[in-house]
Amino acid sequence: MEIIHISAECYPVAKVGGLADVVGALPKYQNKAGKKTAVVMPFYSNAFAAKNTYRLDHQNQVTLGNLTYDFEVLQLENDSFEYPLYQIKIPGLLDRENVYGYEDDTERYVAFQKAVLNWILQFENKPKIIHCHDYHTGLIPFMALQAHKYVSLKDIPSVLTIHNAQYQGQFSFDKLNYFPEYDLSYSGLIEWDQMINPLAAAVKSAWAVTTVSPSYLIELRSAANGLEWLLDNEKGKSTGILNGIDTDVWNPATDPMISKNFNKQNSLSGKRNNKMYLCDKFNLDPSKPLFAFIGRLVGEKGAELLPQIFENTLNNPEVNASILVLGSGDPAIEQALNDLKATHEGNYNAYIGYDEQLSHIIYAGADFLVMPSRVEPCGLNQMYSLRYGTIPIVRSIGGLKDTITDISEKDGFGICHENTDVNEASNAIFRASELFKDQPRFKRIRKQIMQIDHSWDSAATNYIELYQTLLNK
Ligand code: ADP
Ligand code: GLC
Repeated sequence: MEIIHISAECYPVAKVGGLADVVGALPKYQNKAGKKTAVVMPFYSNAFAAKNTYRLDHQNQVTLGNLTYDFEVLQLENDSFEYPLYQIKIPGLLDRENVYGYEDDTERYVAFQKAVLNWILQFENKPKIIHCHDYHTGLIPFMALQAHKYVSLKDIPSVLTIHNAQYQGQFSFDKLNYFPEYDLSYSGLIEWDQMINPLAAAVKSAWAVTTVSPSYLIELRSAANGLEWLLDNEKGKSTGILNGIDTDVWNPATDPMISKNFNKQNSLSGKRNNKMYLCDKFNLDPSKPLFAFIGRLVGEKGAELLPQIFENTLNNPEVNASILVLGSGDPAIEQALNDLKATHEGNYNAYIGYDEQLSHIIYAGADFLVMPSRVEPCGLNQMYSLRYGTIPIVRSIGGLKDTITDISEKDGFGICHENTDVNEASNAIFRASELFKDQPRFKRIRKQIMQIDHSWDSAATNYIELYQTLLNK
């Protein structure tokens, strides 16, 4: 392999959010562009693992302080994958059902990263590029550069892609003994705010840093959950590369998960069929414009404002909307979104939980998708919704700003608002409902958005060009 992607998530093996979609797709498109890629991730005891078979690639041990863990590197045997996928199994640490959310996540991910390096260390042909994704893999660039044990890896260029700088994985210096031996005078490289900070460590040690949209790169210099100064200081080695979408998985013409397949020629009947299916299932009136939200119910997504935004919308007779929510996260937000069902039966419904298939049907059947995000490093939902002819209503931030143009502008096709604010978002939904009343224009825009190209081809090439500049150094 020339390029190894290291990540905690990869679709369809394990997915919490967009990180999985990106790591599932980018290597595939890089392969198509002529680079040999592979992915390595943890082995979780989840539904995917239960359904698949593996070949043992390597066995070894990893230490954390005084503890020693056996680990196995398993290679997936599954023909539908277009790149080799390896999973690290560490019994007692990684082999659990969920990806994150355990008390010992620090131990789990430090052990994972050391296991990855122990594995790579014994390759006869080392990868040319080590590409790390988010903080769970953020100690790798440091360890590869500084740890005595990994000295033979120190000349391999490393890239860190920041999908989300809100999460940094900080832990106390009490756990410094988890690290392989290195010259302690370099401890500044792992420190931020008196803690060991894996994301900061990667920003300092990786040869290059990328963010998942150009706007997010700029925004991080003033809002990065404490790392603003660092990201500003490292701007010389940082680039923003907008994510793509996997157009094989997210294709309304072939998607096996939706109620009826459609393309831009027959979008009218295709959208109608999927909308009917949804409205029937969720007791909504299909003649009204259908507004949907899909996502993690957390502050970054502006999710705590949704109940009030929807209340305003449902109480506004001029809008006359149907609303459908798919999401999970903060229990208080889940509760508030569930509570709305009782007062707005027939006009509002919510499925609280995670359901991959339902998300596809909603992208296919809704008229509008609401994204009042406070922070949105890229956002894939709006790109999926474009491809499925669902008009996005977004707060202009990060990747949303880079992908959606308001209908008031030349060739505009979305509805944008400036701030994550109840009134602004409610007003944006009102503007969307006015657009819905103008059916010829609404349908024209729907056809227009289905043609926008957000495939991975150009982004995959941007990454390859970046690797090349590092290899030329
Ligand atoms: P983030 O990674 O911050 O959550 P993205 O927009 O990049 O945001 O990606 C979110 C991904 O997760 C999309 O594929 C979206 O469809 C999916 N998703 C989010 N919440 C749910 C859910 N409750 N059920 C199914 N899919 C979901
Ligand atoms: C993160 C971000 C999201 C982005 C995704 C994939 O989870 O929150 O905006 O689309 O990563 O890069």
